[in-house]
Amino acid sequence: MGGLLVMIISLTIVFFAESTNGWGIDGHYIVCRIAQDRLSESAASAVKELLPGYVDNDLASVCSWADRVKFRYHWSSPLHYIDTPDELCNYDYDRDCKDENGEKGVCVSGAISNYTDQLLSYKASSSSPSNNLTEALLFLSHFMGDIHQPLHVGFTSDRGGNTIDVHWYRRKAVLHHVWDANIIETGEERFYDSNIENLIDALKENITGDWAHQVTKWESCSKNETTCPDRYASESIVAACDWAYKNVTEGSVLEDEYFLASLPVVNLRLVKGGVRLAATLNRVFG
Ligand SMILES: *[C@@H]1O[C@H](CO)[C@@H](O)[C@H](O)[C@H]1NC(C)=O
Ligand SMILES: *[C@@H]1O[C@H](CO)[C@@H](O)[C@H](O)[C@H]1NC(C)=O
Ligand SMILES: *[C@@H]1O[C@H](CO)[C@@H](O)[C@H](O)[C@H]1NC(C)=O
Ligand SMILES: *[C@@H]1O[C@H](CO)[C@@H](O)[C@H](O)[C@H]1NC(C)=O
Ligand SMILES: *[C@@H]1O[C@H](CO)[C@@H](O)[C@H](O)[C@H]1NC(C)=O
Repeated sequence: MGGLLVMIISLTIVFFAESTNGWGIDGHYIVCRIAQDRLSESAASAVKELLPGYVDNDLASVCSWADRVKFRYHWSSPLHYIDTPDELCNYDYDRDCKDENGEKGVCVSGAISNYTDQLLSYKASSSSPSNNLTEALLFLSHFMGDIHQPLHVGFTSDRGGNTIDVHWYRRKAVLHHVWDANIIETGEERFYDSNIENLIDALKENITGDWAHQVTKWESCSKNETTCPDRYASESIVAACDWAYKNVTEGSVLEDEYFLASLPVVNLRLVKGGVRLAATLNRVFG
């Protein structure tokens, strides 16, 4: 009886651990750290004013807030991802951005537009705004990370790799979680002394170094859009097909070959997420 109880409890923990949608804590932390560093003066002061006092102006420390409220705000859980048709490897807003009941706009792209629009009322509203803009900022910061995680724009029938069991080296894992967390964590262990600060420093160095010539392109949206989540989503499903799903079937053992091919993709997605979060906030509060 006791054994059964322990088993049920452990299964429950495993279930909740695996059902967290989004980069793991480290991934979101990195995206928000990169972003906050790149804010204009006016965006930085708006963010500071909107953040809850107890976080001491540290956006990254609440970048996973949206995952923690998923059960309390049950309506928010379909806002973390997009399901695209199996094997098509492309994304279309009208076709794909909806929840399981077909409700349009209920997906991570719709949510990014939604919370960007809400934040645009910050400047206008001297009186009390109709939405909680602190929550809007925390949702936007989180979803900008999620939409850059390739498997958050994955196939419908495997729920973005959530139903594909693999081995990450010798441990059991699901493919979705490999991309949320394992690749980042193994990268930190192997190349950065298990210190996330070293990884963030290396990424920032590349933003001003090797990747500097691409940054303006990453930041820009066509027309005068404040943000362009459909573009970010399209990139993600292509990366999912080219890298995340590539060579993987149920039971695959993923080790060095897969890890070393995937790590640069993950690093680039994290950086783009951070750069674009900052660019969006700079346009919102500019
Ligand atoms: C938009 O934001 C409001 C307030 O948080 C929320 O109730 C609604 O579900 C959101 N919709 C989408 C598509 O993000
Ligand atoms: C806005 O949301 C935050 C986080 O959920 C909460 O702590 C705060 O009390 C809310 N503010 C208002 C005015 O409701
Ligand atoms: C920085 O860029 C170089 C050259 O493109 C690359 O080899 C390296 O892995 C990058 N570092 C990170 C942390 O992504
Ligand atoms: C973009 O904004 C500028 C300045 O506000 C305006 O002159 C231009 O017509 C806009 N372009 C489009 C495509 O909306
Ligand atoms: C997939 O397998 C091929 C052939 O073994 C290999 O060349 C390629 O690098 C692999 N791709 C990934 C992402 O592991």
